[in-house]
Parts: sequence; C-alpha cells; structure tokens
Amino acid sequence: MHIERNNALVLAHYYAPPAVQAAADFVGDSFALAQQAVRSDKPVIVFCGVTFMGESVKILCPEKEVLLPVPDARCALAEMAAEQEILHIRETVEDLAVVVYVNSSARIKALADVVVTSANAVKVVSRLKEKNICFIPDKNLGAFVAAQLPEKNFILGHGYCPVHEGTTVSEVEASFAAHPGALLLAHAECPAAVRERAAFVGSTAGMIAFAEKSAAREFLVATEEGTLYELSRRCPGKAFFTTRADFVCADMKKVTKAALDAVFAGGGTRVEVEERTAEGARRALVRMLELAQ
Ligand code: 13P
Ligand code: SF4
Repeated sequence: MHIERNNALVLAHYYAPPAVQAAADFVGDSFALAQQAVRSDKPVIVFCGVTFMGESVKILCPEKEVLLPVPDARCALAEMAAEQEILHIRETVEDLAVVVYVNSSARIKALADVVVTSANAVKVVSRLKEKNICFIPDKNLGAFVAAQLPEKNFILGHGYCPVHEGTTVSEVEASFAAHPGALLLAHAECPAAVRERAAFVGSTAGMIAFAEKSAAREFLVATEEGTLYELSRRCPGKAFFTTRADFVCADMKKVTKAALDAVFAGGGTRVEVEERTAEGARRALVRMLELAQ
C-alpha cells in the first residue's frame, strides 16, 4: 500500500533512535502519544515504538490505518500478565478495581476496569472509588503508586521491565560519585532502591519536564538512553548522563530510520486487533483518558 507522507502522522517514543525522533511529527511518552493519535485528523498513523503502543492507538482510533515500521519490536513487560491471575482476583476480592498498565496486550486490557500509563497512574487510581486495587503487570510502578495512595489496598502483579529492573544502586552510587551535585531522574519502572534516591520519579515525559524546570545543571537519568536526545534538545546547557553505559531497550532500537522510510515505500505492518477484544480494551483506555484529565 502506498502512503502519502502528507496523509500520515508519524509518532515516535522517546526511546526510538534519535534519527527516528528527528523525522517524527510528534515525540512523546506513551500517554502523550495516545492523546496525540486521538486528536489527529490524519487517516494514517505510523507508530515508531513497540507493538503494544501501536495496538493501543489502533484500539483508540479504529477508523485509522495504524502502521508499525517493524513487526517484531516487542515489550517484554507487556507479556508478563496472565488472564487467569486477573480472573482469579476478580472472583475472590470484593470492592475491587483492576488497573492495567498500558504496557500489556489488548487481551489483558480488555479485562481491566481502567488502563494507566506511568504519567497518569497516581491520578487515575486516586480517582477510583474502589478500596482494593489489583495493579498489573509492573510491580515497580505498582509499588510507586501504592506508596502515594495509602488509603487503598494494593494487590501487585509480578511483572517488570527487564531494561529498568536491571538498574542497580551501585550503578547509581557510581554515577553520583562521577557527577557530584547531579540530580537523579528515575523512571517509575526502576526498582525501589533506585527510586528512593531520585529527585523525580515518573514517566519519561515527566522526567523531561522536571529537568526543564529544575535549576540544576547536571542530571543522572535512570531510563532508556533515547530520552537523552529530547532532554538535550529541550535543555541546552544542561548535562545528562544515563546511570549505566548500555541503558538500551533493544526492541525500541529495531525501529530504525530505514524501517520508517520503508513505510513510505510500501512497507510497514498494519496493526489489527480483533473487534471483541478491541471493544473491551477501548472501554478501559477511554476511561483512562477521562480520569487522567
Ligand atoms: P512512558 O510511559 O514513560 O512512555 O514509558 C513507557 C515505557 O515503555 C517505559 O519503559
Ligand atoms: Fe517494554 Fe521495558 Fe522496553 Fe519500555 S523499556 S518498551 S517497558 S521492555
């Protein structure tokens, strides 16, 4: 299928390679990208990120053609939630809301009462009336949200992002030693011991906004290194260092500039979600958009 560039909105996540971010119409975190897709009047969306993100956009915008530059950029965390786990908790716990992190499959989202991203999880969960919250799959984001909402009971999933979970306190301490006076920005998917040392914990967009406003000049960044492209672009004169040399999500890096260009030469993979699954997932995604306002 031939796609005219003018008919397409190219969205890229902050973890995409810099050349892809530079070529995109809009770069953002998973929440901002979903919002941008919903607002767009373009009939085609080319999504430069991992599969679940393109899938969420297709679910929210079923009338649009959503294309992924590569078919196999997967998120390991998104595959760590089990349907059985949710069904069991639903049967056994009363006064319960099932909150599913956006890094999950459409089938898991379809079982949720609401979806959240790291940018809006605290706000969305705080607005739920239920006392008991089943939060899956990310245990680190879940624990971060739970710590801020002590009035709720949390049942946390066991999933984790292998890229963020591997961040260690000793790496962070070594980074502080190399850059005394720097502030630590941590993605909420990092382990508790790392989050506890951070000046800011949240989504990638939240980390960028914090750095932009902060008077500090040096920052340690505990998230995927692609984020440094936007941090440096938005904060000239400030210095950013990842807390480890290879802070890389290999799947995000599969989405190369060559793969993006190939979409406009007839390539790309069309995102399709079976309508019954999409219907359930859409309800939970739309509820997120409403509660996050
Ligand atoms: P954001 O919601 O900050 O975009 O994070 C998505 C993600 O995959 C983090 O690893
Ligand atoms: Fe998934 Fe982790 Fe990659 Fe984010 S960094 S897309 S959570 S594997």
